[in-house]
Amino acid sequence: MKIDGTAYRTIWLAPDGRQVQVIDQTKLPFVFETLTLDTLEDAAQAIETMVVRGAPLIGATAAYGMGLAMAADPSDAALEAAYTRLMATRPTAVNLRWALDDLRALLTPLAPEARRAAAYARAGEICDDDVEICASIGRHGLALIREIAAKKAPGEPVNVLTHCNAGWLATVDWGTATAPVYMAHDEGIHVHVWVDETRPRNQGAALTAYELGHHGVPHTVIPDNTGGHLMQHGQVDLVITGTDRTTATGDVCNKIGTYLKALAAKDNGVPFYVALPSPTIDFTLSDGVAEIPIEQRASREVSHMTGVSESGEVVTVDIVAAGSAVANYAFDVTPARLVTGLITEAGICPASREGIAALFPDRI
Ligand code: MRU
Repeated sequence: MKIDGTAYRTIWLAPDGRQVQVIDQTKLPFVFETLTLDTLEDAAQAIETMVVRGAPLIGATAAYGMGLAMAADPSDAALEAAYTRLMATRPTAVNLRWALDDLRALLTPLAPEARRAAAYARAGEICDDDVEICASIGRHGLALIREIAAKKAPGEPVNVLTHCNAGWLATVDWGTATAPVYMAHDEGIHVHVWVDETRPRNQGAALTAYELGHHGVPHTVIPDNTGGHLMQHGQVDLVITGTDRTTATGDVCNKIGTYLKALAAKDNGVPFYVALPSPTIDFTLSDGVAEIPIEQRASREVSHMTGVSESGEVVTVDIVAAGSAVANYAFDVTPARLVTGLITEAGICPASREGIAALFPDRI
């Protein structure tokens, strides 16, 4: 996607063919800056501190992290240490495990001197595949938006609500939840997005709004508690979110607050879709609430907020009463019964074991 006329992916190889470059998402929307990852530890910290985030991009960064590790030391011990270090960065998004398992299985049987090239080649493939997968998700989701648009009066927008950032910044390009929106907008459908601000880190207000704005898609940022009210008043045609891990039975784990949107959508008869690439499906799990590990992050993410002061300075301020305890659960699980459908690269299916099995028969 483009930023001020220049096409970017979220992760790419530096000209030396070894270092890796990423967009520093902790600085957005105030400053657009890229960052160079030089070592395995740089890659691990970029994931931990959310310089890069979003399930598919976490997987892609981990893959390149294995490349950086193999460039420094291709021994068996270094391979295992890199796998362990990267796996410990964030627990919920299963794309991390998927990418690391893939790289480890590829590299382990190779002679050490062949590992560096193989790791970079595979990381590059994972990135290219992600772009293709997201484009395909976009084409399938576009059909849903076209259907709704066809029933609208001339000039009336299709209102999509989304939570967190499942946009191109969360993937390598296109995004998952936003890919259908970009495609609809590009073909001239009047689409408008309600963007949940997504406390505590504000991925909606900071990242989704930034993306949509730079692509010219009409959108409105709303406090996280607004969606239910909008749905009651017929102002949401469709919810599309992303996911960090979806079980083989269709339970969807995503950014904290997604579950409440799904409940409100169910109560108001609003279709609730989840867009996901197949590497986000954890085929080993069948009960999302019981089995998906939910990351708990630093209380400072809740107690503090960062923004631009009136004098243009980026400042961080404390917003919680001194001495109060703070909890920061980063994700929640929406049971499959609340999900209208899953939009994948292979098509749209019901959120159920049968639905997923029909699209991915050799994986289940
Ligand atoms: O904590 P984050 O910002 O990594 O959480 C991201 C999300 O919850 C996204 O919705 C999810 O990863 C899907 S991204 C295509």
